[in-house]
Amino acid sequence: MSTFSGMMWLCLAVTAALGIVLCKLKKSPGQVGSKVACLVGLWGGAYLFSPSLFWGLMLFLLSCLLMCTYFSSQEFLPVDQKAVLITGGDSGFGHALSKYLDQLGFTVFVGVLHEKGPGAEELRRTCSERLSVLQMDITDSQQIKDAHSKVVEKLQNRGLWALVNNAGIIGLPADGELVPMTNYKQCMAVNFFGAVEVTKTFLPLLRKSKGRLVNISSMAGGVPFEKMAAYSSSKAALTMFSAILRQELSQWEVKVSVIQPGGFRTNISGTPETWSKLERDILDNLTPEVLEDYGQDYILGQLDFLKIISRSGSPDVSPVLRDIRHAVSAKRPCALYSPGPMAFPMLCFVSFSPTGIFDYFNKKMCHFTGGVPKALTKQA
Ligand SMILES: NC(=O)c1ccc[n+]([C@@H]2O[C@H](COP(=O)([O-])OP(=O)(O)OC[C@H]3O[C@@H](n4cnc5c(N)ncnc54)[C@H](OP(=O)(O)O)[C@@H]3O)[C@@H](O)[C@H]2O)c1
Repeated sequence: MSTFSGMMWLCLAVTAALGIVLCKLKKSPGQVGSKVACLVGLWGGAYLFSPSLFWGLMLFLLSCLLMCTYFSSQEFLPVDQKAVLITGGDSGFGHALSKYLDQLGFTVFVGVLHEKGPGAEELRRTCSERLSVLQMDITDSQQIKDAHSKVVEKLQNRGLWALVNNAGIIGLPADGELVPMTNYKQCMAVNFFGAVEVTKTFLPLLRKSKGRLVNISSMAGGVPFEKMAAYSSSKAALTMFSAILRQELSQWEVKVSVIQPGGFRTNISGTPETWSKLERDILDNLTPEVLEDYGQDYILGQLDFLKIISRSGSPDVSPVLRDIRHAVSAKRPCALYSPGPMAFPMLCFVSFSPTGIFDYFNKKMCHFTGGVPKALTKQA
């Protein structure tokens, strides 16, 4: 009993010592309080539930280590006068992120596709004077150069702290054979080449500040979902580009993160007008043989997939914003973030399960099939 209570006091002493060390770190009082509370909780848990005092102590020390690692990864750098450039700020994540970082005190540059569009106007109306809206179609080299000149002029010899490559399009989700080549090229032009060109243009400014490059890829860039050949391939290219730059830029102390969100309801799925244009694109670009084999009903049914996407997913994009903010300003950002309820489990599932099992369950989980091609119906 005396050894038992001796160990108990030892655990308590270690808890107190760790608590004091943590209190010495420069934190807001709330954060310190929660750390000490967690430590005491861990100590209590380890003490109560351990099978023996030795393992209790081990469990406690391990928990402390994990907790210290976790909390230190949650430390943010001061905002100071840090400047961030975000592309694709007209709507969705980019729009919400611009407002969020502006509220946090960052100097925000927002690249938009339509300088006079409602998204750009809203940002001008609702954000502080620190925020600048820049016309920047990321598929237009001249617009990227012009935006760069404006950023340089405004920063006056300061570096750019972070670049968030967010602009993206989903293209036409349909069987890979049916997607027109123009659509594959458009997805690559925006989601990959656009992001690469913006990155190359602004990297000298990021290197100057030893800042952050944050690329918004997608869960679909790592998980092979049917109907997403064009979009997913462009996002997989962006993910790989980011992973290579992460290693190359470490010598310049620039940190690179990839965000792979999954399942948020934004403007990405388009509008009834864009859907009718896609309908025309798809039908105008098929050979008679493909049209015959798939059948018009099946082909037009593919567009229902976009309509389903437009109604599904979470309208609350705050998990994405939190992760991007962490990548932009945490002392130790992560290389990869997967916000959204499905993203992390799906990425693990595809990495660790045999392809046959993955394909079977993926088909079961993605309810949309779009029916059966005409030629296969005849065979059945
Ligand atoms: N929503 C999701 O669940 C999800 C999941 C994974 C990844 N993502 C990625 O997250 C990023 C943001 O998407 P979101 O969901 O927020 O969709 P969104 O609302 O459509 O936002 C994308 C923004 O990019 C803009 N854009 C399109 N082409 C552009 C170009 N050439 N140059 C500059 N800007 C351009 C769009 O402008 P317009 O509005 O004028 O077209 C739009 O403002 C994208 O890269 C997307 O692939 C989204």
